[in-house]
Amino acid sequence: MNSRVLDIIKGIDDIPTLPSVAMEVMDLTRSAEVSIREISECIHKDPALAMRVLRMANSSFYRRGSKEIDTIHRAILMMGLNEVVNIATSVSVLSILNPKNDERESLRRKLCNHCIATALIARYMDKKIHLRAQGREFVGGLLHDIGKIIFDEYFHDRFLEAHELSIRKDCPMFEAEKEVIGATHMDVGSFLAQKWKLPPYLADIILNHHNPADAQLKDITALISIANLLAKAREISCGGDTISFVLKDQGAWLILKKLGHPMDTLDLERITFEMEDIGQEVQKYISTVLDQPSEGNADG
Ligand SMILES: [Fe+2]
Ligand SMILES: [Fe+2]
Repeated sequence: MNSRVLDIIKGIDDIPTLPSVAMEVMDLTRSAEVSIREISECIHKDPALAMRVLRMANSSFYRRGSKEIDTIHRAILMMGLNEVVNIATSVSVLSILNPKNDERESLRRKLCNHCIATALIARYMDKKIHLRAQGREFVGGLLHDIGKIIFDEYFHDRFLEAHELSIRKDCPMFEAEKEVIGATHMDVGSFLAQKWKLPPYLADIILNHHNPADAQLKDITALISIANLLAKAREISCGGDTISFVLKDQGAWLILKKLGHPMDTLDLERITFEMEDIGQEVQKYISTVLDQPSEGNADG
């Protein structure tokens, strides 16, 4: 990354931070000996976070049995530690990134909706090809374009300029960002993930989501890359790069195929049909996390 831009980002005082309890959870999960009790007590220290995690665990997005999950401890027993930590990460990130009411709300909402759509589609595709990414595809999808949100907030005019350049030159957004801002949203996003002490695999997914061949977790990153394209195809786009694509020719698709995943058995017509409702799913997800009526249209 351009060192000047890195310096600017490092120097931003009010760069968003994860809530302290979420950071503590991240720290705890680095230890191999962490117990369910420790994680659950840690999450309960932040009642708003605990409430959001439980609401999510009981929502149609995650709920498995008919019994209500009423404690974090129970959620971990029912869903597994990783899934609960993934939910805690997702709701923490979303609670700080969701747009407030200001003049930039519309673009910010589009960016957030695009990220949520990518996460939901990645989870859907994970089930389709039985990748068993265990929620990592969801958090990775949610965070993949977080660098764009930072650009929108702190480099707003140049971000819009890059957006226009991307349309004018019909080039990917990250190429235009490099030209106008001097760094890509992948550079900035992975920097932020490290700053937030998120698990290293997330910084790697963010860095390589446009080039999964270079990723450490090639399969999950390729899956997110495909989910990103599908989200854009549903016009839940956020960055100018409206390049038409054919899914089966995509590098990410070929990577998954090469790794032995059953890509040829997928019914693309059916998948496209099932994507129809993704806009409503995005709104449902937002209102479940934030417990507020959703606004705006994900297809906008
Ligand atoms: Fe991206
Ligand atoms: Fe994206």
